[in-house]
Amino acid sequence: MKDKKILAPSILSADFLNLKNEIKLVEKAGANIIHCDIMDGHFVPNLTFGHSVIQQIKNITNLPLDVHLMITNAEKYIDNYIDAGADYISVHYEAVTHLNRLINHIKSKNVKVGVAINPSTPIENLSDVFSLLDFVLLMSVNPGFGGQSFIEQTISKIEKFHQMKLMYNKNILLEIDGGITLENANKLSKLGVNMFVAGSAIFNSENKTETINKFISNINEY
Ligand code: DX5
Ligand code: ZN
Repeated sequence: MKDKKILAPSILSADFLNLKNEIKLVEKAGANIIHCDIMDGHFVPNLTFGHSVIQQIKNITNLPLDVHLMITNAEKYIDNYIDAGADYISVHYEAVTHLNRLINHIKSKNVKVGVAINPSTPIENLSDVFSLLDFVLLMSVNPGFGGQSFIEQTISKIEKFHQMKLMYNKNILLEIDGGITLENANKLSKLGVNMFVAGSAIFNSENKTETINKFISNINEY
C-alpha cells in the first residue's frame, strides 16, 4: 500500500491581512492540513501569533490544524493550543525539559503529537520517546524564518528515521519543514516523507492553486 502523503501549507508566508482568503484558497485547492508556526522570540529569533489566532483559524476552515510550537515553556502554554483546536502539535526536542511528560499530556487530550528536531539535533535523540509519537518533524532549515534553503544533510536523517520505525515497529509519520520546493518534494516523497510543509513555495508563487496542484501530484507520485 502507498504511504499516506499530506500537503501542509505554512501560513507563515501568507498575506496576514488577507489570511482568511489565503486559507480558503489553499483549502479549495486541495491542501490536506494547515501548518501554523508559533514563534516566541526566545527559542527562535522571530515572533508570530498565539493561540487566539489558532482559535480563529479553526473557526474558518475544515482542515486539520498542524501547530508547530517553536517556543520555550511549551508545558505552560500547551493547553491553550489544545483548547484552541490544534489537531496536530509538534514541540521542539531542544526546548522541552520534560519531554516524556509533555508528550503523554498531549496524547491524553487526543491530539496527534510530534517532536520537531533542529538540523543540528541527531534523530537518535528521540529513541526513548519514539514509540509514543504520531509523527516526527525534521527541520530542514534552522527554524525562525520562511524562505530559507533546504539543508541537504537532512536527507541522511530520513534513512535513520526508517530504521527507527522498523526497530520500534511503530506506524509513525515523517514530516519535513523548511526549504521545500516542487522539485525536492518529489525526491523527498520517494524517500518516504509523509507530510510536506511548504510556505514560501506556495504563498509567494504566482498561481497558488496551480502550485498546490503540482505539489499534490509531485508528492503522490511515490
Ligand atoms: C520555519 C517554519 C516553517 C516555514 C517554512 O521556522 O517552521 O514552517 O514557514 O517556510 P518555507 O517553506 O518558506 O521554507
Ligand atoms: Zn513550521
